[in-house]
Amino acid sequence: MQRFRRLRQNQALRDLVAETRLDLRDLIYPLFVIEGTHIKQPVDSMPGVYRYSIDELDPLLKEIDESGISGILIFGVPKVKDAVGSEAYHDHGIVQEAIRYIKSKYPRLLIVADICLCEYTSHGHCGLINKERIILNDETLPLLAKMANTVVDAGADLVAPSDMMDGDVASIRAYLDAHGHKSTPIMGYSAKYASGYFSPFRYAANSAPEFGDRKSYQMDPRNGQEGLREIQNDIDMGADIVMVKPGLAYLDVLKEASLTFNKPLAVYNVSGEYAMVKAAAQNGWIDEKRIVLENMYAFKRAGASIIITYHALDVAKWLKEGN
Ligand code: PBG
Ligand code: ZN
Repeated sequence: MQRFRRLRQNQALRDLVAETRLDLRDLIYPLFVIEGTHIKQPVDSMPGVYRYSIDELDPLLKEIDESGISGILIFGVPKVKDAVGSEAYHDHGIVQEAIRYIKSKYPRLLIVADICLCEYTSHGHCGLINKERIILNDETLPLLAKMANTVVDAGADLVAPSDMMDGDVASIRAYLDAHGHKSTPIMGYSAKYASGYFSPFRYAANSAPEFGDRKSYQMDPRNGQEGLREIQNDIDMGADIVMVKPGLAYLDVLKEASLTFNKPLAVYNVSGEYAMVKAAAQNGWIDEKRIVLENMYAFKRAGASIIITYHALDVAKWLKEGN
């Protein structure tokens, strides 16, 4: 008989033989910055998450800075949108100004800038469209590259293209290299699925598509092998970090990616995953701390080294408490 229980007798033994560890530095906290002043607007679909104007950010940034997590993933919510998403690549757009402010005041925090047009286009798609409402893949690439360059000029430490246009990473890499930003890493949203789990985010960022859906560019949830091909392609195009998104429903892809590729691997624990946990916890149906930590360990077990999560600040608090 194998006595597995020998090593489960007490917390110290269990800690000694634990196969995975969760570290504060694994964590990245997503942040929504909205144009305007005196705004701290709760996101109804995501309890505990707010949209902040730049002048209201300090208490949160201070908390993030002191928490010991690695940094933030920043999203802009502009006042004005147009067909070509001009505010996305404006030197003084909302996200560029927010980055400038945060970098000057909180230099320790890594600032990851999400690169996509959907928060900035009037139609809400991640790329340009033509009159027939077809997504214009190659015409979108220069705009993504330009956006990346403006956010790096403003102080972003990494750029993370989430648009799912083919060729995005290559186009961004070439443009950054040509503009004096050879050393800025790219984190590709490599295997990003057309997922119902993004709905709460789209309220937060006001970025839902006005017509149709994102299935012509984001991946079909039925495809795991294709996710690996997407990741390989992002690596070939120069991605320094690759990502699987969402997390919980795609742990198989995450695990296989971790066994296949020799690159830092991120997982995005998305808005819908957060909202489901929060809703059940608010009803008293689950123990929030327990469930969230269990989910975090699932990501680590599956091979993620970086976890992007709206739970990051709570997790930081819980890790300090000890479990
Ligand atoms: C922008 C973007 C989205 C998310 C990250 N970047 C939304 C989308 O693709 O519709 C989703 C994040 C989340 O749900 O938490 N393209
Ligand atoms: Zn988008």
